[in-house]
Amino acid sequence: MKCLKWGVIGPGSVAQRRAMPAIQKAENAELHAILSRDIDRGQRLAQEYGAEIPYTDTEAFLADPQLDAVYIATPVFLHKEQAVAAAQKGLHVLCDKPLSLNPSQSQKILDACQANNVHLQICFLFRFHSCFQQIRQWLQEKRFGTIVHARMPFMKHAPKDSNDWHIDPAKSGGGSIMDLGAHSIDLFRWLLGEVTAVSAFCSSFIFQHPVEETGLVMLRFENGAQAVTETSFSGQLSAQILEIYGTSGSVVVYNDNGWKIKTTIDDQTEIIDAQFEDLFQSQFEHFGRCVEGQESPIVVGLDGLRNNQIISAAYRSATSKKVVDLEN
Ligand SMILES: NC(=O)c1ccc[n+]([C@@H]2O[C@H](COP(=O)([O-])OP(=O)(O)OC[C@H]3O[C@@H](n4cnc5c(N)ncnc54)[C@H](OP(=O)(O)O)[C@@H]3O)[C@@H](O)[C@H]2O)c1
Repeated sequence: MKCLKWGVIGPGSVAQRRAMPAIQKAENAELHAILSRDIDRGQRLAQEYGAEIPYTDTEAFLADPQLDAVYIATPVFLHKEQAVAAAQKGLHVLCDKPLSLNPSQSQKILDACQANNVHLQICFLFRFHSCFQQIRQWLQEKRFGTIVHARMPFMKHAPKDSNDWHIDPAKSGGGSIMDLGAHSIDLFRWLLGEVTAVSAFCSSFIFQHPVEETGLVMLRFENGAQAVTETSFSGQLSAQILEIYGTSGSVVVYNDNGWKIKTTIDDQTEIIDAQFEDLFQSQFEHFGRCVEGQESPIVVGLDGLRNNQIISAAYRSATSKKVVDLEN
């Protein structure tokens, strides 16, 4: 099995907590290079995470002949420029979510990856959890009948500093909907199908951030189902993870000292424990197998583009106070 040589662009919080340790653990990945704006930081992190070369110069990093793929974990406003530049050098791209600031930027990433025949994957990690893979299979088998409604609250009480890029709309593209809702909206699309209409509320009355701290996004799906996701940087963590209701049953994922999956079908209830899984490791290993043609992609560039289209529609709805229709 080929071991992909990875370069990490933006060795910040998620790269350090999740991605670089996952590359170290993955059976078909090797951390080759780190691109940081700060050479001391780059050197320190390269040593800590076992990368061969710390770079500060983007051109030199992208021209490294040993590099196979890049993982992009910079603020969202940099994703388009970095993903396109990597693709143009023939490097495969794993981009953290959201793919970019807006659909037009994401389309450019898709075009560049297609033109240069490189693999593009977005860190929509829920798709890699066996719990959600099981639920997706149950939905395909119509175990709960026809799905009518789903819900996913995603809250983190996480006040941001005034200079944090997450709350600068030019750098983040939005607040909790872009940051947390990107995940829940992707999971809904993966489980329930394409979205045809979006309606949303946004508010920021706790920390007065210039992007929405709290968001409410309602989605209508092609198959008639509806879903709602509630996102927040100011609300406390919710024990509910996901709820799906069908004509003959329901499935609820909740946190009670670990994730539990509760299914109810015709008044019969069953509770299954879900184990902790390193979703970052799974996505890196899957990425490598996709590049080698050993697996079909679980996440493709179009998923990142559609995600941006839905989130952009949510912001238009919140501003206009109208439901926004989507074309697929
Ligand atoms: N999939 C997930 O579960 C998950 C979780 C958290 C975040 N994310 C996503 O991952 C990406 C990074 O998020 P994060 O929370 O890791 O951010 P972060 O801690 O701020 O790290 C971003 C890194 O990018 C580099 N950078 C380059 N130019 C920058 C600039 N102009 N301003 C700030 N940083 C710059 C910095 O590294 P140097 O100083 O070394 O250059 C910085 O440490 C975002 O797209 C975010 O949505 C995904």
